[in-house]
Amino acid sequence: MKKIEQAKKRLEDNKQFKVLSILENLMDEKKEQLAKQILKVDFNLINRLYQNKDSKKNKNDKIEPIKYIDKNKLNNKQRQEIEKLGEKVLRQNQYAVVTMAGGQGTRLGWKGPKGTYKLDVGEDGKYIFEILANTLKRTTAKYGKEVYWYIMTSIENNDETINFFEKHNYFGYNKDKVKFFTQNILPLLDFEGNLLVDKNYTIKEASDGNGGVFVALKNSKMIDDMKAHNIKWVYVCGVDNIMANMTDEILLGLAIKNDVSSASKSIKKAYPEEKVGIFCKRNGKPAIIEYTEMDEKMIYAEDENGELLYGESNIVGHLFNIQTLEKMAEYKFEYHCARKKNTFIDSDLKEVIPNEPNTLKFEAYIFDGFEYLNDMVILRVNREEEFAPIKNATGVDSPESAKEIYENFYKKEEKK
Ligand code: UD1
Repeated sequence: MKKIEQAKKRLEDNKQFKVLSILENLMDEKKEQLAKQILKVDFNLINRLYQNKDSKKNKNDKIEPIKYIDKNKLNNKQRQEIEKLGEKVLRQNQYAVVTMAGGQGTRLGWKGPKGTYKLDVGEDGKYIFEILANTLKRTTAKYGKEVYWYIMTSIENNDETINFFEKHNYFGYNKDKVKFFTQNILPLLDFEGNLLVDKNYTIKEASDGNGGVFVALKNSKMIDDMKAHNIKWVYVCGVDNIMANMTDEILLGLAIKNDVSSASKSIKKAYPEEKVGIFCKRNGKPAIIEYTEMDEKMIYAEDENGELLYGESNIVGHLFNIQTLEKMAEYKFEYHCARKKNTFIDSDLKEVIPNEPNTLKFEAYIFDGFEYLNDMVILRVNREEEFAPIKNATGVDSPESAKEIYENFYKKEEKK
């Protein structure tokens, strides 16, 4: 009972009257459960996030294009020399892959974790996680060493993800090399700053964005685990790109050769409005500006050859050395605010299903950590070889478009 009173007071103090009336209308046992959760909410943080939801903090930033290396333009001699550097790390098993699979995947409309989605390729179809496991198995075959594989989940999908791997026997990957860790969550707010309650009478929360990966790696002791295995380089990528080349000797070799602590992959933007973040320099430091935050001028700006001035697109493939990965967990990341659609219950406990975005979701972006780097390598790779994201149910970046890229690529590989 004391908890319920404390929760009510906390809600009143923070003007959260909507949740307060839901709490008052609930049956006793549910009341207790909701009250406990309310007492865990960091109201200072969410009040601050709400206040800053529209502030464009860095209006006066100096934005410039950034240099990149085109993989296609390396000659054979350069390629061999660079590859050798990367191969050495892989052969010595000093390399790990982190797959970020903590997102909500709402756009795809798939209820389970995104990696459990089955794509219609091959004879019986293949799950996204299976495709990624197969890619890593090819590296194992090449170097005789199994790459360490860390999978970031969310509180929501962690158990389901682990059960899925167990059920499918890790798709033949060595189970001992696969570890799961969970990222943090943050409450969602409505446009007036109210917390929302789910139909299960819990506060609606969602993962805190892929920038949460560093803290999650640290808090789950995965960085310690990496160090214990003498891992020197870590490639962090999204779960939704089924063509992700996660153990690219060239990217790794270039980072080593250029003596930088981080390197990322880019592809050429297909058209100005493509929904991709772009690489640039911000106040002299490497940066990515997300597609949701670019203004028209920047989207359409061209260089003297008529090419997009900001055309190097982020495919969510970021390499860090272990020291940098660890340091990133100490830095403060600002949250970005996205407008999303989410169901909730109102004060008379009825579920509301919105047709329009109705909630504010706060997310940290992994690439905001670049501002702490002095320099990094950006490697432009071929879209048809390394980028087939599954994000939407139909159209661009959908299962259909990913299937086409996947099948074309593997047909070509078979012919080689
Ligand atoms: C992302 C990139 C964008 C890039 C595009 C390419 C970010 C912030 N944006 O956009 O610059 O051009 O992909 O397709 O990186 N994730 C988590 N936890 C979260 C949120 C996301 O693990 O809390 C994972 C997702 O599962 C996904 C990846 O991070 O694999 C990126 O997802 P999302 O935040 O949805 O960004 P996009 O809009 O897809």
